[in-house]
Amino acid sequence: MSNISIAIDGPAGAGKSTIAKIIAKVKKLTYIDTGAMYRAVTLKCIQEQVDLQDHRQVEAVLMDTKIELIGDSIFLNGTNVSEEIRRSEVNKWVSEVAKLSAVRKKMVEMQRAIADSQSVVMDGRDIGTFVLPHAAYKFFLTASIEERAKRRFEEQQQKGFSTSLAEVKSEIENRDRIDTERDLAPLTQARDAILIDTTGLSIEEVVDKILSYIQ
Ligand code: CDP
Ligand code: CDP
Repeated sequence: MSNISIAIDGPAGAGKSTIAKIIAKVKKLTYIDTGAMYRAVTLKCIQEQVDLQDHRQVEAVLMDTKIELIGDSIFLNGTNVSEEIRRSEVNKWVSEVAKLSAVRKKMVEMQRAIADSQSVVMDGRDIGTFVLPHAAYKFFLTASIEERAKRRFEEQQQKGFSTSLAEVKSEIENRDRIDTERDLAPLTQARDAILIDTTGLSIEEVVDKILSYIQ
């Protein structure tokens, strides 16, 4: 039987990764967090103090970047960076790094190779529009900016981070703007994607909605 793919896209804090993980578990598919891959490259750029305007520096760093997804963890050149990639400095830079064509090319190649070899639930910004245009199911999750910021803020408070709600909101708005306005595979709903506004919906309600389409 051939592999099937489920694409879940949307802006920051819409609930993509939470929902995608549950769908993957229920349907016994592999969950692929493409945002984590861009975050890992960003961490490497920060570590190497790369000048993002300098293509040669970016290419050199990419040559020396090995990303592995193992279970729920992500490894950068053999080191588990699952926690580190959620740092505020990574949040700040990730959309700038994800704009670069060399970075996108390498990540998309990896993502397509993974989806070729197994059935996946893949979440990101351009999965339904660009990475897997022939995915069997495509969903675009969104929610009001207030709700998305509140969700992220609560998450960060639980982790003991000291950022304010206003800071979280502005960081998310800034990333959404860069992701939507970039030239290459910008954040947008695929024409054949099912739109789900998760504002006011529980995680269970969103999961049920998605499962009602794929069962
Ligand atoms: O979890 P959160 O919504 O905060 O972000 P993420 O999914 O971890 O993605 C982090 C960033 O990576 C996004 O803001 C985009 O700049 C970039 N990204 C992308 O360009 N394309 C993807 N398929 C996934 C993420
Ligand atoms: O991956 P993305 O940035 O789209 O969002 P997420 O990291 O999956 O979700 C952000 C937070 O919202 C998590 O703490 C979820 O538990 C919470 N949440 C949700 O995902 N969906 C809802 N319907 C309600 C809350």
